[in-house]
Amino acid sequence: MKIALIPGDGIGPEIIKQALKVLEAVSHKYNVDFSFTELLMGGVAIDQTGVPLPEETVKACKESDAVLLGAVGGEKWDSLPGHLRPEAGLLGIRKALGVFANLRPAILFPQLKEASTLKEEVLGDGLNIMVVRELTGGLYFGEKKRQGQGSDLKAWDTMEYSLWEIERIARVAFDLAKNRQGKLMSVDKANVLESSRLWREVISKVALEYPEVALSHMYVDNAAMQLIRNPRQFDVIVTENMFGDILSDEASMLTGSLGMLPSASLGTENPGLYEAIHGSAPDIAGQDKANPIATIMSTAMMLRYSGDLEEAAQDIENAVSRVLDKGYRTGDIMQSGMTEVGTEKMGDLIAGEIK
Ligand code: IPM
Ligand code: MG
Repeated sequence: MKIALIPGDGIGPEIIKQALKVLEAVSHKYNVDFSFTELLMGGVAIDQTGVPLPEETVKACKESDAVLLGAVGGEKWDSLPGHLRPEAGLLGIRKALGVFANLRPAILFPQLKEASTLKEEVLGDGLNIMVVRELTGGLYFGEKKRQGQGSDLKAWDTMEYSLWEIERIARVAFDLAKNRQGKLMSVDKANVLESSRLWREVISKVALEYPEVALSHMYVDNAAMQLIRNPRQFDVIVTENMFGDILSDEASMLTGSLGMLPSASLGTENPGLYEAIHGSAPDIAGQDKANPIATIMSTAMMLRYSGDLEEAAQDIENAVSRVLDKGYRTGDIMQSGMTEVGTEKMGDLIAGEIK
């Protein structure tokens, strides 16, 4: 399996290093060969090449079987114009690979119930929500501009969706829901936004092809509230790019920490892109404090969706669970009576469970 590696900025390189330990263990156990090409993107690419997403990176990603990404961004590059920021590299690679379907599973390990900010009775005996975020359209990619001067200076971003874009993300979400509890919640703001009214119409039309899935709709403000009030009502959530960005961060806290949530971004023509949903956390970079679990779980998703290695994927997920069983925690999920470990040690422990 040919893997394009993009460590990126901040904690990116440290967490990617832990994912590599896990892949090495998988390679031995399952006798699969992984080859890696390390590529520049984000702030480090700006420093070395002047742009956040060099052409060469795009090309090498397209020629690989999967792309594994750390994180990008940092204060150092915050004052650059929008198209030259590290984040523009991330949006650029998502667009270039056409990975429109971003799967963000929010799964609560029972061992981490106490690490969640929600009461135990709200979490019940587990939580398993799949957030399907549309990733290459909507507010992130519509026209954006500044115009005018002085106090007349104005800026705008545009939220736009074409029917085909909504249809294809709807199918991904319905297909997932069909193989889970059969419940799909589409989240929009159809009481205010025209793009949401089209979203709702199209999702409802696609629903006719999936009689086995129960579809409901919810406004995004209500969904944000319901996720905290009663998260167990959700199975699969499908929503536009920006709403999905916000709701998936919220959902991650249900699982104990932002450091726990992996993601897979899939399209039809190019390799999938795998990354934790968290950012580059410059404040803790280089201090052996970052939780590598989200990236390790993203690596499991990579083996599942791009490598057809379901057994190895489950093996990684079980390894994470066993390490938590043994009481090891990074700082973000630390509870009393547990053993606090750093990034490196957490990576070693998880890889060790696979051998
Ligand atoms: C995410 C991140 C990115 C996004 C940022 C870093 C551009 O928050 O993957 O959720 O907004 O998509
Ligand atoms: Mg986000």
